[in-house]
Amino acid sequence: MKVTVFGSGYVGLVTGACLAEVGNEVVCIDIDQKKIDNLNKGIIPIYEPGLETLVKENQQDGRLRFTTNIAEAISHGTFQFIAVGTPPDEDGSADLQYVLAVAKSIAEHMNDYRIVVDKSTVPVGTADKVRAVMVEVQAKRGIDIEFDVVSNPEFLKEGSAINDFMKPDRIIVGTDNPRTGELLKALYAPFNRSHERVITMDIRSAELTKYAANAMLATKISFMNELANLAEMVGADIEQVRNGIGSDSRIGYSFIYPGCGYGGSCFPKDVKALERAAEQIGYTAELLNAVENVNHRQKQVLFNKIVRHYQGDLAGKTFALWGLAFKPKTDDMREAPSRVLLEALINAGAKVRAFDPEAMNEAKRIYGDKPGLVLVETAEEALKDANALCVVTEWKNFWSPDFELIKNTLKDAVIFDGRNLYQPSILKKLGITYYGIGRP
Ligand SMILES: NC(=O)c1ccc[n+]([C@@H]2O[C@H](COP(=O)([O-])OP(=O)(O)OC[C@H]3O[C@@H](n4cnc5c(N)ncnc54)[C@H](O)[C@@H]3O)[C@@H](O)[C@H]2O)c1
Repeated sequence: MKVTVFGSGYVGLVTGACLAEVGNEVVCIDIDQKKIDNLNKGIIPIYEPGLETLVKENQQDGRLRFTTNIAEAISHGTFQFIAVGTPPDEDGSADLQYVLAVAKSIAEHMNDYRIVVDKSTVPVGTADKVRAVMVEVQAKRGIDIEFDVVSNPEFLKEGSAINDFMKPDRIIVGTDNPRTGELLKALYAPFNRSHERVITMDIRSAELTKYAANAMLATKISFMNELANLAEMVGADIEQVRNGIGSDSRIGYSFIYPGCGYGGSCFPKDVKALERAAEQIGYTAELLNAVENVNHRQKQVLFNKIVRHYQGDLAGKTFALWGLAFKPKTDDMREAPSRVLLEALINAGAKVRAFDPEAMNEAKRIYGDKPGLVLVETAEEALKDANALCVVTEWKNFWSPDFELIKNTLKDAVIFDGRNLYQPSILKKLGITYYGIGRP
């Protein structure tokens, strides 16, 4: 089938590459000329396991092309996927300008039936707005070409995006036209071999399903962080509590890890956007508000522990920081807890030596030569001249470090562990002062 994908970021690139991999002819279009030039040279703009190989192989086989040419892209695909960003507006609501710009472009150039598939995360009612923009543009062109708008939210996780796309838990298709639903089912058939994963529903429910999923996951995290803070105050160990409640099948073990807050391009913005959307229709989303506030506070927890340990005197101290990406296996630093910590440390007069296995280029792009921040090439190098170590992202290579080396290199032999990677009792025996999240 012929597919066009607008936006060559995390979602667009993965969608394009995976749909090409199963045999479709895919054209990916982006307004970022440099990104497209790089992709045409085989340079992948993001780190995502398996993506580079998939993109290159499908490019070589001629099933995946990259362009900035709008007319060419729109004349190519019967399916026109929208996978552009929906960043937060000034007040936190989803900014739809990129989505609506794509809708406008499609209507300006279409000469044939098109299925506009919205994969971006958008508030309820966006499909109606997309449709309205397209009808208006067509009217100006003096044409009335049939099209459908489908909501097909994406649930991939950065770090395992290819696998998530190839073997999704579910494929949500929101449509008001059964025939279009069938066409989407046919497009997704290769990902449904073991069992049917497509769940068809009305458009508004599909739009809300994406926000509901992210809000639920963010709620689980904030709930555990709230409990972790309580555990600390009452002398309980949140890791034992986690095991205790995870064993209840109604609760389960996933997404109940306490830590230094959630980040990334989705949870923070989607919780906020849902909250604002509720507000706009006169409903106060108390729970979502609390989830967001708890997370905001949690991002300060490591810094507060550091301040307490050093009795407020951070000037002239140096901190090794392991992990810049908002989670392992990605280079994405959007809303990452590492940023809150490193900026707070530097504002307090400390220096930071930071390392991440994949996000160094992203950190350079964001911070440039920020005074007080040194980006280093290895985890060990971060420890040099540092007073203490802060672990912010749970990359596998940080799980079993050489504690003797850490102890002998750090000036103060203190670890602030924002992901509860280490055993407090073992570190105590080694003579390392340890601070975790929600542990006595
Ligand atoms: N990143 C994730 O893990 C994830 C997962 C599920 C859903 N989503 C949602 O998917 C959407 C995209 O997220 P992302 O992380 O891929 O964003 P991204 O910022 O990585 O990529 C968006 C791309 O769209 C391009 N773009 C903007 N306007 C355009 C236009 N008019 N035509 C063509 N390209 C245009 C940008 O240049 C950019 O390359 C968002 O709504 C996000 O909430 C993201």
